[in-house]
This record gives sequence, structure tokens and C-alpha cells, in this order.
Amino acid sequence: MEKFIIQVATDKHLHYAEIISRYIENASMVKGAGLAKRTPEYISEKMKQNNAVIATTREGQWAGFCYIETFSNNLYIVNSGLIVVSEFRKSGLGKMIKKKIFDLSVERYPNAKIFGLATGLAVMKINSELGYNPVTYSELTKDYQFWKGCESCTNYDILERKQWENCLCTAMIFDPAVKMKNKNGSKENNFVKNIKLYERWMRFKIYVFLQNKSEHDESMNAGINKKDNKYVKK
Ligand SMILES: CC(C)(COP(=O)(O)OP(=O)(O)OC[C@H]1O[C@@H](n2cnc3c(N)ncnc32)[C@H](O)[C@@H]1OP(=O)(O)O)[C@@H](O)C(=O)NCCC(=O)NCCS
Repeated sequence: MEKFIIQVATDKHLHYAEIISRYIENASMVKGAGLAKRTPEYISEKMKQNNAVIATTREGQWAGFCYIETFSNNLYIVNSGLIVVSEFRKSGLGKMIKKKIFDLSVERYPNAKIFGLATGLAVMKINSELGYNPVTYSELTKDYQFWKGCESCTNYDILERKQWENCLCTAMIFDPAVKMKNKNGSKENNFVKNIKLYERWMRFKIYVFLQNKSEHDESMNAGINKKDNKYVKK
């Protein structure tokens, strides 16, 4: 028998919202995690709309979560906040939750581009297997609400300094139109093939951005203030 029950969240899961919110908040503190904090009310709303997937053990312990966000009149959607409780990680649960939310997304929003921002290789690997491809930030939605979601991320100042064109996260997109085009031609997935290269690239990117960040923080403490995206002396 399967150890976990992975299902679309509903009203009957509302009592988990508080613990999921706290867990996401703690995980978001981890350097480079790239997770947006979410209130229990926000998570409850996702459950009520059936726009989330929850994993629990057979005994009812919460084990993992992920939710759908919609943008630009449902033309773009994101499978956000994928999280697995530490003790259950690296056993395939993250992948199963992501697959479930991906299937739910395709079923509910068949014409939408599904995209995501991720710092972790685990998520990039999972996305890649689902048919996502890495893209530049300019190919993502311009919807203000999406980028506003990044404000609670510890790396937000990096995104702001990079003028919303780059950050620690890698952007990946699943485009159903491209998928249809490639159906018969079955395009080879280069991401998984080049995983070692991506791993090095990600380490380099995190190193450079976080180093710039601490230099920037030092300047701020030394009396340089930010105004209208230009740095001016106090
Ligand atoms: C990211 C996270 C959800 C992965 O969950 P998980 O249950 O451990 O993932 P899985 O066991 O399904 O692993 C999926 C794949 O990623 C790989 N993987 C897992 N953790 C990894 C890590 N830390 N580094 C590199 N690869 C990793 C696995 O080996 C697996 O690859 P495979 O199919 O080739 O074997 C989990 O680590 C987590 O909750 N992290 C904190 C929150 C977070 O960072 N969320 C992502 C926000 S973008």
C-alpha cells in the first residue's frame, strides 16, 4: 500500500493551512530557497478553490503541498510553493505532488502556459521531466500580481536590482502549443542531459548574486540609499 495519499485539496484539509504556512515560512528563510511566504488564509483559499494538492500520510500527518496561481486571465499559470516535509524528502514525494498538480493544471487550464521559477535542482529536474524548458524572464507573464508574489522572498532585492530580468531562480515554462508541435517529432530533453552543467551554472549564479548582495548591503549600511532604482547618497 502507498505510504502517502496525494490528492486535490478541499475544504476538509483547511485545518492543515496553519502548519503549511509556518512550514513554508521557515523553508523560505533558507539561503537561496526562492519560496514566497503565504498566510494560512491564502492557503485556505487555494484549498477551497481546489487549486492545490496536498500529500498526507495514511495516519493523517501533513507531508507536502503545492498550489496553482493564475495570471493574465488564466493565460499563464504557476505551480507554486512545492514543499515536502524534511523527513519525507528524497523519496520521490516531491515529484509525485508536482505531477499531480501539473495534471490538475492541464485539466483545468488546457490552453495556459505553465511556468515556474526555481532555484533548486530537484524542482528543475522535475519540471524538465514534465516538459518544461528553461526560458528568460521576458517570456514569463508581465502580470504585476505574479512579481508581487516575489516580494516576500529573501532574494527580492536581487530581483529588483536586476530590474525583474534575472534573479537566483531559473525560469521554466511548459507551453501546450509547443508540446503539440513536438508530439510527433519528440524533441530531445537537453536539460536532464546537461544537468551537471546546470548545477555548476546555478552555483556560480548564486555565488555572484549573493556576493553582490552583501556588497550592496554594506553600501546601504555605509550611508548609500536607494531611490527610484538609482543609488543616491543619503
Ligand atoms: C524541493 C523539494 C520539494 C523536493 O522534494 P523531494 O520529495 O525531496 O523530491 P523527490 O524525492 O521527488 O526528487 C525529485 C528529483 O530531484 C532530485 N533531488 C531531490 N533533492 C535534491 C537536491 N537537494 N539536490 C539535487 N537533486 C535533488 C531527486 O534525486 C530526484 O531526481 P531523480 O528523479 O533523478 O531521482 C524539497 O526538497 C523541499 O521541500 N525543499 C524545500 C522547499 C523548496 O525549496 N521548494 C522549491 C521551491 S522552487
